[in-house]
Amino acid sequence: MSYYLLTDEQIAFYREHGFIQLDNILSPDEVLELQQYMDELMSSSGDRAVDNSASRGAYYRVLNQRVNGWRDHGGYSRYAFHHRFAEAARQLTGTQGIAFFHDHALLKMPGDSQPTPWHQDFPYWPMNEPGALSIWVALDDVDENNGCMRFVPGSHKVGKLDPRKLTEETDLEQYAKGTVAEGRAPVTVRLKAGSCTFHNGLTFHYAHANHTEKPRRALAIIYMPEGTTYSGKKHVITDPQGLTPGQPIAGPLHPVLARAK
Ligand code: SIN
Ligand code: NI
Repeated sequence: MSYYLLTDEQIAFYREHGFIQLDNILSPDEVLELQQYMDELMSSSGDRAVDNSASRGAYYRVLNQRVNGWRDHGGYSRYAFHHRFAEAARQLTGTQGIAFFHDHALLKMPGDSQPTPWHQDFPYWPMNEPGALSIWVALDDVDENNGCMRFVPGSHKVGKLDPRKLTEETDLEQYAKGTVAEGRAPVTVRLKAGSCTFHNGLTFHYAHANHTEKPRRALAIIYMPEGTTYSGKKHVITDPQGLTPGQPIAGPLHPVLARAK
C-alpha cells in the first residue's frame, strides 16, 4: 500500500484556499491503465453504476457522467478506492478516518460542449457536517480549450449557498456578491494527465467547455470525514439506503479508505 505524504505547506494551502493542485499523483503506467478502464466503463452497459447523462439532454452538453463506476468495473474500482488518493484527502481534512461517498467519471464531450457553471458541490450532498471534498484526476491533459477547472481561492469560507442548476450559467460576480469571495479573482488550473486537484465541497469552481475533437476525461471521487451524518436530502446514492436523518453515512457503499496511523 503506497503512502502519500503531503507537506505542511500543501495542507495549509488547501485549508486557506479551499483547493490544491497535486502533480503526478498517478504514474504514466497508471494513467494508461485508468484511461483504458474508464473507456471500458463508459462503453459498457453495466447496471450497478448510475448513468445520469443517459437522456443526452442539456446536462449531457455540460457533463457525460457515470456515478459509482466502481460497482461495474473491478479495475476501475481499484482507482476509486485508491489508498494514495484517500490518504491525501484524509491529510487535507485532518480527520482520523476518511470515507468514500461516491465516484464520478466526468467526461466533457466534444461537439456542443458547455462550461460547467460556477457552483459549490456541498449543497447537492445529503450531509449535515461540512468537510467533504473531491479529488479530480485528469486523464487527459487539460487547459482552457478542453475543460480545465477554475477555483475561487478562499470561497469555501462563504459557507453553504443554495444549489445551482448545472445546466444554467452562473454569473460569478452575482454569486459572490456580499460574501467573503466578492471580488476574488479565480485561479485557472491546467493539468497534465495523471495530475489532480482536490477541492473542498464549499469551494466555488467552474470548468471550461471542451472545444476539441476528443472527450475530456476525469475521475472525481468524493470523500467525507468518517462519522459524517445524513441530512435527509434526496440523493441518488443515499435514497435507496433507507438512512434516517442524523445517522452516519456508513455501510457497504461507504468504506473508510484511510485512517490515521
Ligand atoms: C467538471 O469536471 O467539468 C466539473 C467537475 C466539478 O464540478 O467538480
Ligand atoms: Ni462540482
